Order: sequence, then C-alpha cells, then structure tokens
Amino acid sequence: MDKREYLVTERQQVTEDIVSFVLKPSNGAICSFVPGQYLVVDLPALGLRREYSISFGDGLSYRITVKREAAPKDQPDAPIGQGSNWLHDHLTVGDTISAWGASGGFQLDRESSRPVVLMSGGVGITPVLSMLHYLSRQASRPTWFVHACENGDQHAYADEVNALVAQADNIHKHILYREPLPKDIKGQHYDSSGLVNKTLMQALLPLDNYEFYLCGPKGFMQAAYDILVELGVADESINYEFFGPATLVKAKPVGGNQAVRSTKQQPKVSFTQTGATYTWDPELENLLDFAEENNVFPNHSCRFGTCGTCATKLVSGEVEYFQETIDDIPPGHVLLCSCAPTMDIEIEQ
Ligand SMILES: Cc1cc2nc3c(=O)[nH]c(=O)nc-3n(C[C@H](O)[C@H](O)[C@H](O)COP(=O)(O)OP(=O)(O)OC[C@H]3O[C@@H](n4cnc5c(N)ncnc54)[C@H](O)[C@@H]3O)c2cc1C
Ligand code: FES
Repeated sequence: MDKREYLVTERQQVTEDIVSFVLKPSNGAICSFVPGQYLVVDLPALGLRREYSISFGDGLSYRITVKREAAPKDQPDAPIGQGSNWLHDHLTVGDTISAWGASGGFQLDRESSRPVVLMSGGVGITPVLSMLHYLSRQASRPTWFVHACENGDQHAYADEVNALVAQADNIHKHILYREPLPKDIKGQHYDSSGLVNKTLMQALLPLDNYEFYLCGPKGFMQAAYDILVELGVADESINYEFFGPATLVKAKPVGGNQAVRSTKQQPKVSFTQTGATYTWDPELENLLDFAEENNVFPNHSCRFGTCGTCATKLVSGEVEYFQETIDDIPPGHVLLCSCAPTMDIEIEQ
C-alpha cells in the first residue's frame, strides 16, 4: 500500500469531542479516493496505526475527522483510547504525519444511477459525508441523508450538510436526536427525536430501488439493518462499515450453504485452540468470515488488510491473498480478513 507523508494544514474543533485535520501530501501528490474510503494513520509515538475515514477530499488534500475515545461507560477505570486521544492532544497545524491509503471496500458505487440512502450514527458520519459531497455534485441521483446523534452539542457537520442540501435539489435530509437538549429546536436543528425506526424509514422513503450505505455504532447499525431487511431491502443493496471489531447479526438463508460445506474437494481449516476442523466454504470471502461462521472470533478491526489486527499464525498449509495488504505482517502469520486457503491449513485460533 502507498504510504505518504502529510502536512497538517488545518485543524478544526467539530464538536466538543470531535476534531478534524486537513492533510496535504508533503510532495504535492494528488489525493485520489473513492468516497467512503479511509486513511491508515501511523502513530509511531505509540507504535500504533489507526484507520480514519476521509470526510472530505478535494484532490489536493484529505480531511479526516477523529472522535476522542473515552473509556467505555460501563468501565470508567479502563484506559482511554490511545490513538484518538494522542491525535487530539498532540497533532496540530504544521506537523507532519504518515498514512497509508486511501483504502477500504466501503465505497460509493459511482457508476450506479440508483437512488442512495446514507445512514449514519455519531462519528459514523465521516465516510458518508464524503459520499454526500460527491452526490451533491451528481444532481441526477436522488439522495437521502439520515443522521442520528445524541443532541445538538454532538451534532457534527450540521452547517456543512445544510449547505449541501440547500444547494442540491437531489438531496433530502433527516436528523434524529436521541435526547434533544432544551436549546435544540425541532424543525431547525433536528427533525425527530428518539431512535431510528421502521415507521420513520417508511415515511421518509418513497418506494424505490435504493442503495444503502450505513456507518455508526453497533446498536444503530444492527437496528438500521434489521429495519431495512424487514422493509424487504435485499442484502446486496445494504453496504456498511464498522469502525472496529463488530459485525452485523444477519438472518441465515433457509437451508444455509450445506451443499457447499459438504463438498469433498474443498480444503480443510483446523483451529488449534478448539481442535475443530471445518471444510472451507468458497461462498465466504475470507478466513475471518469463515472463522466467525464457525463460532471462532479472532481479533479484527478494518476487515480490509490495513490494520494488522487479524494477523494469525499459520501453523501449516498455504493461503492466497485476494487484495493488497500492509507489508509488515509478522513472519509465519496471515491476515485472516484478506486471504483464503489453497490447501488444508491449520491456524492458531
Ligand atoms: C475502517 C475504519 C474507519 C474508521 N474511521 C474513523 C473515523 O472517521 N473517525 C473516528 O473517530 N474513528 C474512526 N475509526 C475508529 C478508529 O480507527 C479507532 O479505532 C478509534 O479512534 C479508537 O482508537 P483509539 O486508539 O483511540 O482507542 P483504543 O486504544 O484502540 O481503545 C478503543 C476503546 O477501548 C477502550 N479500552 C482500552 N483499553 C481497555 C481495557 N483494558 N478495557 C476496557 N476498555 C479498554 C478505550 O477506552 C476505547 O474506548 C475507524 C475505524 C475503522 C476500522
Ligand atoms: S482486520 Fe485489519 S488487517 Fe485484518
């Protein structure tokens, strides 16, 4: 993957706990990306790298938008998020930073002419905001922007979205505040309160053949996904991205993939920790999906070969990669999210 040095040319406080950085390549290179993609930011001071979606790009620079991660509410004594807090506390205009990318499979289908629904929760607005910018320039493509957040104080990019809606006839928006503050005005700052629900989505969207793009916290994503499935939206029309190690619980197709699973010629995958062996299912894209399908849950984050979190020791056998990945995979390890077995394998999980 392409790693570049960037100069921080702007830093903006978006909400109390969200800050954005505009990054310009130090060598003047072009910043090409597909709306929805992210950069993998190198944090050498911490020995970490973290993914941040591009919330806007103009060909000359990228803007990333970072939420300061506090300790989980139910574990207030746990350490705070390392990478995001470091960026909030240390990165400033004039600094340089390295990043890989743009990368990621959560991409707006720019060839399609179907109407689009962008649904985001909290800081999940970042990848869909760059999609919204792109769609606002495609006046022909009807677009619904549905954003949910806590209240007006935590509403990121309200002015930017309002400006896009005002200048583009094809864009409609609906803002939900979970618990509006007394100063939040319905009809001005937000359109409805509470959680995203089926009645709301039915009321918002005229019958049509939409493409959906979802990004947000797990609860929001699962609720949105379940509603869309209940409304009869096909799975292939629902694109989504999590900002970390979460997955959607999907209804299994009746009958599952039993026929494929019992095919003799498929390689066998053995997991050292449980001692279990399963037949590879070629309908699944990668070893991470396959492990989860078999109730083994490896650590992961990006699911796209860029963070290294799913690196796992390959005890025996061989795999093939189907996408470009980071190049510093520990020796003898494989990135489960980016490869499939070519023969019987054993992995340390
Ligand atoms: C594709 C992708 C795109 C992303 N885009 C964005 C984006 O645009 N904006 C954005 O803000 N984020 C984005 N993220 C998330 C981002 O990459 C980081 O995961 C996020 O900033 C948190 O990283 P951190 O280093 O601050 O937290 P970490 O140090 O990784 O900690 C994560 C959480 O775990 C808690 N924690 C740490 N240690 C413990 C412990 N011992 N016990 C219990 N809890 C613990 C922390 O308090 C924190 O809440 C994206 C992620 C992905 C995968
Ligand atoms: S989950 Fe990030 S590299 Fe596999």
